[in-house]
Amino acid sequence: MAEQMKSRRTLFIAGGTGTLIVAALAAAALAPRVGAADAAQPPAERPGTAAEVDPWSAGEDAPVTFSGDVASILQRRCQACHQVGSIAPMSLVTYEETRPWGPLIRDRVTKRIMPPWHLDRDRGIQAFANDRSLTDEEIATLVRWVDAGMPEGDPAELPPPVEWPDGRNFALYERLGPPDLIVRSDPYDVPATGQDAWWRPTVETGVERPRWVRAAEVKPSYPDGRKVVHHTLVTLLQSEEGITGLASSAAGAVGSPGLLTEWAIGKVGEVYPENTGKLLLPGSRIRFEVHYSTMAGIEVPDNQVELGLWFYPEGVTPKYRTILRFFNIAGDSELEIPPHTLTTHSNSYVIPAPARLESFQPHMHMRGRGMSMEALYPDGRKELLNIVSAFQWKWHNNYIYAPEAAPLLPAGTVLQFTAWHDNTASNPANPDPDQYVTWGDRTVDEMAHAWVGITYLEQADFDRLAAERAAARDRVAANR
Ligand code: HEC
Repeated sequence: MAEQMKSRRTLFIAGGTGTLIVAALAAAALAPRVGAADAAQPPAERPGTAAEVDPWSAGEDAPVTFSGDVASILQRRCQACHQVGSIAPMSLVTYEETRPWGPLIRDRVTKRIMPPWHLDRDRGIQAFANDRSLTDEEIATLVRWVDAGMPEGDPAELPPPVEWPDGRNFALYERLGPPDLIVRSDPYDVPATGQDAWWRPTVETGVERPRWVRAAEVKPSYPDGRKVVHHTLVTLLQSEEGITGLASSAAGAVGSPGLLTEWAIGKVGEVYPENTGKLLLPGSRIRFEVHYSTMAGIEVPDNQVELGLWFYPEGVTPKYRTILRFFNIAGDSELEIPPHTLTTHSNSYVIPAPARLESFQPHMHMRGRGMSMEALYPDGRKELLNIVSAFQWKWHNNYIYAPEAAPLLPAGTVLQFTAWHDNTASNPANPDPDQYVTWGDRTVDEMAHAWVGITYLEQADFDRLAAERAAARDRVAANR
């Protein structure tokens, strides 16, 4: 098996306007669907959970039915992806569609592989704006339904079907109207069968004056694009000295404006906080990275992904420029993952100015096992902000903090990142534990970095927000 895997080669094919990467091993991992998913990495064992053999099966005896209990959970948590025409391999809308999947649903939800939300729920911040995970109660309901033999119940109790937004429009259309600018990726022919591909064209934005972006959304074409676009990253490329337009407290900050936005199925665009935006300069270009999957088995010629941008009115400058910062944990020669080992790499960064963290997105490949982000505050306290200990390489989830929970970091805070890779045979996603793995683009190479949304704040605003937080905490404590 190992020999066979070793003989596969990942191809790099340079295209006219972009670079196409066909990752043979990525497709191999996707191909036998049930088998591959069966082998998906279980959540890391944590102290305390091992003893409870199957914590989900214990519970009350009240009858659970599809119509009365399960359908509404599927609507809330699953159907954005599990409906005809969306990216998941099967629809979970009707009873007939759902019933055959009962046992597999039980497996995936109790392991918290589905819905894709792989952040540890017992450590770190838990309030997110885009949380799609199941509550413990919802999991218990699904488990009781499956264990009871998946009864249908009375169809009269079914909740009304969800009216999904018209896929031809941007999801933000209803709230903001049509976008001010649409940038399209160069067309790509998606074949009906074959390997996954990462399509990376670069496209001019064409803006002639600096424009502040107040909302952004990425949209695959409808209906076919939605079936083949797994995720899209959108990076802003523009030349500027450092990062202009930051809070005066962060005037010296260096780096690049990084990712503009990112899309994965189920996401509905992002509207930046009040008086906050991203800056597009004349000459700016957009670099798309579209992960195409052939899971749907349909041919989609000339496929394009659209980036919709909503601007602040011309002449209006929001107070804060928010950026998506790249934190490398180990790159190039620093990332060394010998055969049959578990490795740990760590790196830390001093945050130069008062900041609010808006989001956390770990990035690794097939040997990625986990990643954490910790804050070492100037007063000596250390806090685990978040940890993903059961990383699933096919899902690059972006965890967006709820406004009341977004970490506030005083200037001088050290952000410490740790990444774990598992190059042993016990990692089911590992294509070949005999390989010496280093940094590289292909999914069979590795990476270890985090994308973190950061807004640097003026000291006075930071102090006000910190005081509001402290007051809220005191209120909660007083009510206990
Ligand atoms: C964000 C999109 C998304 C959401 C939300 C989602 N799924 Fe999935 N699901 C997928 C995709 C895509 C796959 C195919 C395997 C993969 O890529 O991980 C999948 C695979 C599965 C599988 C395994 C099927 C197989 O053939 O191996 C099960 C079972 C499943 N999902 C159940 C659920 C349930 C139950 C929910 C809601 C509680 C849910 N999913 C929510 C996208 C989603």
